[in-house]
Amino acid sequence: MIYSIDTAVYIYGRQLRQEKHMKTVLITGCSSGFGLEIASFFLAQGWKVVATMRTPHQDLLPPSQNLKILALDVTSPESIHAALDAAGPVGVLVNNAGIGWLNAVEGTSMETARDLFETNTLGTIAMTQAVLPQMRERQEGVIVNVTSSVTLKPLPLLSVYTASKAAVNAFTESAALELEAFNVRVRIVLPGRAPQTRFGDTARSRLQKQGGFPEAYSSVVAGVFASWEKQSESALTQPGDVAEAVWRAATDPSSPLRIPAGADAEALAS
Ligand SMILES: NC(=O)c1ccc[n+]([C@@H]2O[C@H](COP(=O)([O-])OP(=O)(O)OC[C@H]3O[C@@H](n4cnc5c(N)ncnc54)[C@H](OP(=O)(O)O)[C@@H]3O)[C@@H](O)[C@H]2O)c1
Repeated sequence: MIYSIDTAVYIYGRQLRQEKHMKTVLITGCSSGFGLEIASFFLAQGWKVVATMRTPHQDLLPPSQNLKILALDVTSPESIHAALDAAGPVGVLVNNAGIGWLNAVEGTSMETARDLFETNTLGTIAMTQAVLPQMRERQEGVIVNVTSSVTLKPLPLLSVYTASKAAVNAFTESAALELEAFNVRVRIVLPGRAPQTRFGDTARSRLQKQGGFPEAYSSVVAGVFASWEKQSESALTQPGDVAEAVWRAATDPSSPLRIPAGADAEALAS
């Protein structure tokens, strides 16, 4: 095909602009665990990284011209608005922020259930809504939603947490279809169990505040802990597994919609 000079310059300029935006990733929940690892990984690949956290800590990541650390609470519309204003154009959004919870349905207050959905589910939807206009306009973008391998196999004591993540799977699968028309790719990364992040500690302190597990469920609780003790180290998920899966989701247009991360997640998905 032969273009006029003007058209060629326009197409080239658009490509350059798109490449610039496509190499900027905004990640939620970067204060620890997977989010911090994903931010380091993308920085190491030479991307511009907007690492967001509820309470910004400037010293968690190595200083870099490519790094912007911004405050962001995904449950606050004002905070989302301010962070996206300060971030500039975002090519890839990684919805990673999340809170964990382990307890029986009867041991889960409605306040905790609402908190889980507010962060894990509605936070993801709100962030997606907030970046979509710019991606749709540019006809380019990727959204990666971090859910969990617990959505692949039901486990006791995880009903409310799993529900909050399974809702994100369903949301993502439907959104992926309507966004194809605008060249916006949407992917789900499903990590397995990673006890080395702060996830378990946060869930445990919330559990203690709420009075622990109901007495009637003590044998179910013992069964869950016993099954975890049997899980070998090599069958767990490392933060690096999640960073690699997110990288694949962000950069490989032929990647599948659901990408398990970690040996245990891959085993469940196969
Ligand atoms: N670890 C696992 O076993 C596991 C397995 C499967 C999936 N996941 C998922 O992986 C993601 C990351 O978890 P992780 O293991 O890395 O746990 P983590 O170390 O506890 O990290 C969770 C991050 O989410 C942030 N966060 C919580 N509420 C937020 C909010 N309202 N707004 C913005 N950020 C918020 C936390 O920030 P603060 O420091 O401010 O609390 C923290 O940075 C979560 O979505 C989790 O559900 C974890």
